[in-house]
Amino acid sequence: MSNEDSISDNILSLKEKKNAVILAHNYQREEVQDIADYTGDSLELSRTAATTDADVIVFCGVNFMAESASILSPDKIVLLPVMEACCPMADMVTVSGKRKIRNQFPGFKYEDGYTYPADFTLRDIRKRHPGIPVVTYVNTTADVKAESDICCTSANSIKIVESLDTDTVICIPDRNLSAWIEKNSTKKVIAWDGFCHVHDRVTADDVIKAREAHPDAMVLAHPECRMEVLEQADHITSTSGMIRYAKSSDAKEFVIGTETGLLYNLRKENPGKIFYPLRQDMVCPNMKKTSLRSVLHALETMTHQIKVPEEIRVPAKRALDRMLAVI
Ligand code: 13P
Ligand code: SF4
Repeated sequence: MSNEDSISDNILSLKEKKNAVILAHNYQREEVQDIADYTGDSLELSRTAATTDADVIVFCGVNFMAESASILSPDKIVLLPVMEACCPMADMVTVSGKRKIRNQFPGFKYEDGYTYPADFTLRDIRKRHPGIPVVTYVNTTADVKAESDICCTSANSIKIVESLDTDTVICIPDRNLSAWIEKNSTKKVIAWDGFCHVHDRVTADDVIKAREAHPDAMVLAHPECRMEVLEQADHITSTSGMIRYAKSSDAKEFVIGTETGLLYNLRKENPGKIFYPLRQDMVCPNMKKTSLRSVLHALETMTHQIKVPEEIRVPAKRALDRMLAVI
């Protein structure tokens, strides 16, 4: 038996003993996806976290995902195997303080019009636009959700904004998702200037090159990509949306414009089809921090427990529940 197999066996027996469920985002390492009870996109995993009857949720993903699980299921123990697994985009918006990670993104700059720099805060933008609802991508911290009207994910963003009865909405924190929402909904969007460094690095030129290399392939892109990429894609959807689309499509080849971890699941689910990454370097280092060893350690030591203080959890849950009620 390999070392990896014995770690997996230990995880499975501890999981039984502690009545735990393992949730893994579609970007996780292959071996972590294999050990999980459920893999999925942010929306699917939030739903599972809200309805599971397990006592313990081991969340293999990044911190905002474990926080959301704890917000939705406060009576459960929620474990994040690696405390440092964070989402830099989530840290680009704060309720009242300065952005924590400005220097990691030297290219970050002011833009004209309705795009707000990140040393502006959520409270500032609310003050500037009284009465305009704040639609918050789930890739945010719990305190930001707590001061938002409703949450959305990449799978439901259009339906969420259309469910609101104003002509204008504030969308935080992803400028690319916001631009896509504005283009595909009836709403005027006031966008925050955040971005996902994994998706934002892709350009229109990358799509042109991929089409040249794979002329028969369909190009699927995540809405966290830039508009110049989305405009050239054949289909735009969440990570699990890509899995469903590839399964039901007659096409045999696909170029995948999202984090490369999704290719594992796509290939597993579609053995006769071929998948190419849009760019080899679409890798989220934070999503790769969780390993089998860290999952085992989490279950052995019951760490790291993610708990959101009640004064933040209750209003944050309201924003998540509103989203889950729409779709
Ligand atoms: P989805 O899986 O919800 O499409 O999210 C993508 C993502 O970047 C999560 O961090
Ligand atoms: Fe955040 Fe992008 Fe990584 Fe998702 S892929 S966790 S949005 S940095």
